[in-house]
Amino acid sequence: MIHHDVVIVGGGLAGLRAAVGLCDRHDVALVSKVHPIRSHSIAAQGGINAALGNNPDARDDTWEKHTFDTIKGSDYLADQDAVEIMCKEAINVVYEMDHWGCPFSRFPDGTICQRPFGGAGFPRTCYSADLTGHVLLNTLYERAVAKGVRVYAEYVAVALAAEDGTCHGVVLIDQVRGTIIPVLAKATLFATGGYGRVYFHSTNALINNGSGIGMAYAAGVPMKDMEFVQFHPTTLLGTNILMTEACRGEGGYLINNKGERFMERYVPKAMELAPRDIVSRSIQTEIETGNAFENEQGLYVHLDLRHLGERMILERLPGIRRISIDFAGVDPVREPIPIMPCQHYSMGGIDTNTRGETTLKAFYAAGECACVSVHGGNRLGGNSLLDTIVFGKICAASIDEFLREQRRAPVEGVVARKKEEMEIKIRKLSDSGNESPFRVLDDLRKTMDECVGIFRTEGELEAGLERVLAIRERYRRVKVSSSALHMNYELIGALELESMIDVGHAITLGALLRRESRGAHFRRDYTKRNDQDWLKHTLVTRGAGGEPFVSYRPPVITRYQPMERVY
Ligand code: FUM
Repeated sequence: MIHHDVVIVGGGLAGLRAAVGLCDRHDVALVSKVHPIRSHSIAAQGGINAALGNNPDARDDTWEKHTFDTIKGSDYLADQDAVEIMCKEAINVVYEMDHWGCPFSRFPDGTICQRPFGGAGFPRTCYSADLTGHVLLNTLYERAVAKGVRVYAEYVAVALAAEDGTCHGVVLIDQVRGTIIPVLAKATLFATGGYGRVYFHSTNALINNGSGIGMAYAAGVPMKDMEFVQFHPTTLLGTNILMTEACRGEGGYLINNKGERFMERYVPKAMELAPRDIVSRSIQTEIETGNAFENEQGLYVHLDLRHLGERMILERLPGIRRISIDFAGVDPVREPIPIMPCQHYSMGGIDTNTRGETTLKAFYAAGECACVSVHGGNRLGGNSLLDTIVFGKICAASIDEFLREQRRAPVEGVVARKKEEMEIKIRKLSDSGNESPFRVLDDLRKTMDECVGIFRTEGELEAGLERVLAIRERYRRVKVSSSALHMNYELIGALELESMIDVGHAITLGALLRRESRGAHFRRDYTKRNDQDWLKHTLVTRGAGGEPFVSYRPPVITRYQPMERVY
């Protein structure tokens, strides 16, 4: 059995920031399914929000205005105390990353560049061309390595070891050596990313499948607001690679098959820079009403950057140009980019408070796997990198405090028992059954795409729930061809599939029950927001017998009374 003071699962920005904050005082292990710099944070392009006021058009910006924009963007579901913490701390963390060597783009006066993003009153998104996640991740990874954080790369967490309301560690599979390893830890932090890959069309890496959220749920921690799924307006037709919101922030247009800048009909003031939920619904409506282009890969509209000019595209959007050429054969300097909306971000996740604590003692969560909640019903672009770094840092502080106060040591027996349980599960998966995990996964993703998408109805959601329940039943008969642990993606996939089904179930159930439209959750049969009945977070807890139990909790409101959300 391996012992550490703290085990952090997830090598993206939230996990790395927490590791950097803890490793001077504690023995920290960072576990990642992939090499940490292949974590999905690397794919974030457009930027990170902080009210620095560097842009000449943002001299009057303040962290309070950032807070208001975020709460309004969330359709008033975000917890306002949490948003205040995030937006205030934003300024510190951006300068901290700058001082740690992160190569942000610069204005001529040497200050960090900031560009406009959707739903923001000022240009406050700090960036490094269109590679912001890449540079932030590399900066933090270098710092973690330099500080001696022990990295377990290509180790997959398969279960939390918890008993009597306390977490004692995790069980890992070492994919390279093909062994199962119990890890005893005084504190465990999940920074495992979102659940985008329960959908078929997603900008997310395949590793972002909600497995961490599912493991926490299995250990008794509630999932919160899972029905709030963000669909990014602009993803490349065919591959669904992200075409950053910065394309529109820099002045890009959305054009339909009639040559119209159609956003004029939906939000004439904000146009392409309305929040993502609104822009995605507008594009989807164009697609559904015959205003889209079509080719063998499907229906799409154009993201047109040509008027920005080659110089600006090369300077601010070089990654977008490269991706468009490599994956679509389109050079945005000369041709418009074919795009469609698809799943991008998980507003829901593991229920935590503003210190990253969960209902399970000694177990914390941060980043996209967590729901603090700072994004409520709809996240603003540029707030996700911010969330990871701010709450990674905050989690480090609360774990440090916990470790200095705690008296009881974690119990080896709990972790050993969980390891045995996992060994039995793995043997069972290869022993009997007749269902392919790949086919079951495929059906789950299709169900989520078809039944719990941008627009939702009672009928589709009921059908979706029925399909998820049938998929859950089929999971009992899943069989893998080998129980070997060495790089066995079929086995890891089958283990994670159980979590994905629980996540899909919670999304569908939450969406079916929520009879209103708020943020990214849009019901064609209940098109208005209904604060009277639905200004509340959804909590899904694993009940007796394994069935989900749904409860609700009001959001924290400090200074901003819910108003109509107009742009
Ligand atoms: O569009 C983007 O660059 C994505 C940013 C984000 O999700 O915050």
